[in-house]
Amino acid sequence: MKTLELPQTDLTASDVIVGLMRINDMSDEDIRSLYTASRDAGVTMFDHAAIYGGWHGCEERFGAAVTLSASERADIQLQTKVGIRQGYFDFSYDHIMSSVEESLTALRTDYIDVLLLHRPDALVEPEEVAKAFDELHAAGKVHHFGVSNHTPGQVELLKKSVTRPLAFNQVQLSITHANVITQGLAANMGGLDQSIDRDNDILNYSRLHDITPQAWSPFQKGFFDGVFLGDREHYAELNDVLEELASAHGVTPTGIAVAWITRHPAHFQVVLGTTNPQRVRDSAAGSDVVLTREEWYRVLTAAGHTVP
Ligand SMILES: NC(=O)c1ccc[n+]([C@@H]2O[C@H](COP(=O)([O-])OP(=O)(O)OC[C@H]3O[C@@H](n4cnc5c(N)ncnc54)[C@H](OP(=O)(O)O)[C@@H]3O)[C@@H](O)[C@H]2O)c1
Repeated sequence: MKTLELPQTDLTASDVIVGLMRINDMSDEDIRSLYTASRDAGVTMFDHAAIYGGWHGCEERFGAAVTLSASERADIQLQTKVGIRQGYFDFSYDHIMSSVEESLTALRTDYIDVLLLHRPDALVEPEEVAKAFDELHAAGKVHHFGVSNHTPGQVELLKKSVTRPLAFNQVQLSITHANVITQGLAANMGGLDQSIDRDNDILNYSRLHDITPQAWSPFQKGFFDGVFLGDREHYAELNDVLEELASAHGVTPTGIAVAWITRHPAHFQVVLGTTNPQRVRDSAAGSDVVLTREEWYRVLTAAGHTVP
């Protein structure tokens, strides 16, 4: 498992993150097995959000199931998110402060390593975010900050007042939902959907500003509509190529799907959503594979993207 020194922070973390959005209905024992398998595979970072599993539900399930010794707590990074409420978004000072307190209680920890603003709030007041971040940092309750699903303009607006570094941007990326990467490959081409810039060039902005991008839903075809792995009806060629490369590199197609993301020089962290320990191990093995440029482009075109 590769680790990354994360710019703008003092953190060194695995480039595979285990996301815990889907653990709400698991038994304590199964949550512990997932955690232990993740740690044994080299995972150091775990992703939560206030909204997962109902209000702080998955954080509470994790906190109840996994007892962290002081030294184990120091060896991992807990990341959570704030800002999504039932039917609306809320980056107000009061909401950020109360949600973080609830996350700390649910997770049974004194501090959060990384707090992300979950989805852009149209009514954001950067001064309120800045006040909340400064107080949370000064109190030692949150060590590092970032955003999720934010455009460069939205990050710049926050930076008008927020002085704590915004070190992360978590965005949707899989081989088949790859516009964040593929739009730039086909810039300025008429009549090609791929060339539409849907995020104001988040990726190059992140690289320019040392923001670590994190890829959520790395195996989903699109927005929560199932995985492309094994879907031969829609992605036969892609699955052929993934299987061929998996056998060439001694890993599984899941591992190659991870390797395709980690090969990008933006240094993505891949946020898994699997609840299956074997898939975590397969993903961790993929983190150690470095695809050649030719292999990387082969996967891209096999998924149907255009290399003009
Ligand atoms: N920032 C945001 O807005 C945002 C949005 C969504 C998610 N997230 C984060 O990203 C994480 C990952 O999201 P996700 O769960 O949608 O991602 P994912 O890893 O692409 O999908 C995981 C789901 O696919 C299933 N699956 C079925 N076959 C699979 C296979 N062959 N390989 C891998 N998975 C397979 C898994 O089932 P099994 O459990 O049976 O393996 C699980 O239900 C979440 O946990 C959360 O932390 C962030």
